[in-house]
Amino acid sequence: MRLAVNIDHIATIREARKSDEPDPIAAAVICELAGAQGITVHLRGDRRHMQDRDVEILKRTVSTHLNVEMAASPEMVRIAQTVKPHQVTLVPERRDELTTEGGLDVVLHSSNIDKTIRQLLDASIDVSIFVDPDLEQLRQCQKLKAPRVEINTGKYAEAWKRGSGWANELDKVATAAKAARKMGLAVAAGHGLDYRNIDGIAALPDVEELNIGHSIVARAALVGLDRAVREMIALMTAPRR
Ligand code: PXP
Repeated sequence: MRLAVNIDHIATIREARKSDEPDPIAAAVICELAGAQGITVHLRGDRRHMQDRDVEILKRTVSTHLNVEMAASPEMVRIAQTVKPHQVTLVPERRDELTTEGGLDVVLHSSNIDKTIRQLLDASIDVSIFVDPDLEQLRQCQKLKAPRVEINTGKYAEAWKRGSGWANELDKVATAAKAARKMGLAVAAGHGLDYRNIDGIAALPDVEELNIGHSIVARAALVGLDRAVREMIALMTAPRR
């Protein structure tokens, strides 16, 4: 099973000060050196974290696999056709959401998603669709000849946090992954996965890749804080000429 690290929150910290650090390009290099097999970023319509410049430079610097999450909009398709990331994952997007709230409704938005998939594949960009673990949605992805899907593990993660119903949600993800693979779709999963709830999902034989962001960046901030403070104290207390 491969790990693709979503580094959006590195850009969230940078954008909090409209500064130039931390740079997501440096973060991507560190993730790759640590063994991540892919880098994922979400270019949102409101550019709240990742900027166009980030996606352009990442395309030139990521040496593993660059997956760009985006809405199925004409603006985003144009950017993808220009930058040509290895993969685009189509996600739903609401302006006032804190993060992606659920899978894309491929049945409801079938004709727009169909058109977008064709435009991206024609530009030699691999395409994945972020969907809930729902057979009807997966069948529609198959019908539209999407090569890949990413199954939303958000409900599983919420249930795990609540402490009830997570086994049922895990079963839904497992069943969906199995069905999707049988339909010929390549299967990834993600959303809300962390160091505590990863076990059940990591054991699923039909899932070939996980996309994990928040928990990894959150942990990095804490495990890196000790060194960051020590380095500043060392500079402050260094002998002066
Ligand atoms: N997959 C998709 C489609 C997402 O939108 C996100 C969040 O940007 C993730 C995975 C990663 O979720 P998390 O940050 O909770 O690990």
